[in-house]
Amino acid sequence: MSSQNQLSVLHNFKGILFSTMSSKELLNSLDSFDAREDDVFLVSYPKSGTHWVAEVIENIPNAGITLTSPIEFGDISKFEELKAYSKRRVIPTHLNYDMLPVNVKQKQCKIIYIVRNPKDTAVSLFHYYRDNPNLPCVETWAAFFELFLRGDVVYGSWFDHILSWEEHKNDKDILIIFYEELKKDFAKSLKKITTFLDINVNDNEINKIASKTSFSEMKNNAVKENFDPNHTICALTADRNLVFRKGVVGDWINYFTSKQKRVFDELFTEKMKHSEVARHLKE
Ligand code: A3P
Repeated sequence: MSSQNQLSVLHNFKGILFSTMSSKELLNSLDSFDAREDDVFLVSYPKSGTHWVAEVIENIPNAGITLTSPIEFGDISKFEELKAYSKRRVIPTHLNYDMLPVNVKQKQCKIIYIVRNPKDTAVSLFHYYRDNPNLPCVETWAAFFELFLRGDVVYGSWFDHILSWEEHKNDKDILIIFYEELKKDFAKSLKKITTFLDINVNDNEINKIASKTSFSEMKNNAVKENFDPNHTICALTADRNLVFRKGVVGDWINYFTSKQKRVFDELFTEKMKHSEVARHLKE
């Protein structure tokens, strides 16, 4: 894909590609964001299950929270918009650690970081590139695979993103959760989230949250009643219909050739050799 094609809908900010829905002025002014101590940041590389976890948090009874649009979505008026929320804010973002507003780190806001197997993430992002008019055209999986390997995609390299956050995994205000674990043992992952947010949930409530946030339920209710597109939680589209594709673990097997798997695994081993997070992601 030509870089001109990429840059028709993305722009390069300090070496990382962003959607034009994130204005340069906003990205430049992130450090002037005035965080509140009780803010919660919901952070992920794109296509890691952000909508799912957001819906889970929203469905926790008496959580007293409001989900906002991503901090990097919009223009310079963003911080005024965020000021208007009186409840505890849950603010999604796909920013890497270094770009997170300095104030969020100083105030030790709670941060939930979602990780998903990178092969499934790549396949999911490939489809998003194809379906989402706010992302560049990509003709084939083979072409997209090369872009993903090089980190020449929106929000940059998956490896760099994960590693930037992993460096801070022992900070007490950061919780790392895995898409695959949420799939495998929903109650266990949910309890990790609620304990981290100091909220109590009972088994009955957990079952209700599980059924309300199942893939089929979320897909069927993709567009909520009275949905306000300014309140998208995705910095790459306001169209929730594009988000719910398959919702499974291991779909990568239907896309990666054996050569692509080998190349990817070699890069993974090299880049993630010191990573504990990587150990959770073994197939
Ligand atoms: P697939 O494209 O593999 O289906 P994000 O919200 O970060 O954009 O991630 C989107 C991915 O999460 C998509 O993956 C989507 O289908 C999946 N997803 C969304 N809701 C889900 C749910 N309730 N359960 C499982 N997967 C879900």
